[in-house]
Amino acid sequence: MSNNILKHLAIIMDGNGRWAKERGLIRTKGHEKGADTIRDITQYCAEHETIETVTLYAFSTENWKRPKYEVDFLMRLLDRWLKQELKTYHRFGAKFETVGNIEGFSPKLQETIASIKAQTAHHTNVTQILALNYGSREEIAKAASRLAKRGEEITEDSLGSELNTPYRDIDLLVRTSGEQRLSNFLLWQLSYSEFFFTPTLWPDFTPKELDRIIHQYINRDRRFGGL
Ligand code: FPP
Repeated sequence: MSNNILKHLAIIMDGNGRWAKERGLIRTKGHEKGADTIRDITQYCAEHETIETVTLYAFSTENWKRPKYEVDFLMRLLDRWLKQELKTYHRFGAKFETVGNIEGFSPKLQETIASIKAQTAHHTNVTQILALNYGSREEIAKAASRLAKRGEEITEDSLGSELNTPYRDIDLLVRTSGEQRLSNFLLWQLSYSEFFFTPTLWPDFTPKELDRIIHQYINRDRRFGGL
């Protein structure tokens, strides 16, 4: 029996819209409830003995295709939520980081993001990385292009460290809502991760369920291609 250590957890938070629809509510209500789940999961990660980083897929480069009212709502929610979460980042000792092209967001939202990052930079219990306007193929292509422009050789090491996610490889990926796909999330960093898919919709996902998944992960046999 193996004993895997979990340092980097990644989650594709999916199912907010279906959660709202099941209750006869508008989709945005699901996003609001989903934001509460982020807080609970971040607290769990901050209190967990080995988790150093939790990366959460909050907005993909493809999400701009959603109706304008939903995109606008998500932008406003993110701004309001970050400001209100500052006290919880302090309470949990959580550092806030992002990955993705936040230059695509409004100057006001970019300012909020920069301010919360600066005010939480000293925290060490856990780093919460929100993937915002993120797409993995774009991240890899841009990293390769920067190396090429500098005339540097493209190797696994050079490309890996040129990515915008200079954190260690992901140990465990969880996707909620029953979908079983990666949706252009951290393709490089997930090369050797363990995957778990749960039918639970993100707003209903709890630290208790995450804890059960982590126990299963700990007992999985990770061989990284060896025997
Ligand atoms: C997927 O649900 C969810 C997202 C678009 C990303 C996650 C967003 C949140 C948790 C909302 C709040 C986030 C922050 C950081 C404040 P979906 O809309 O794709 O659900 P569906 O597949 O059931 O339609």
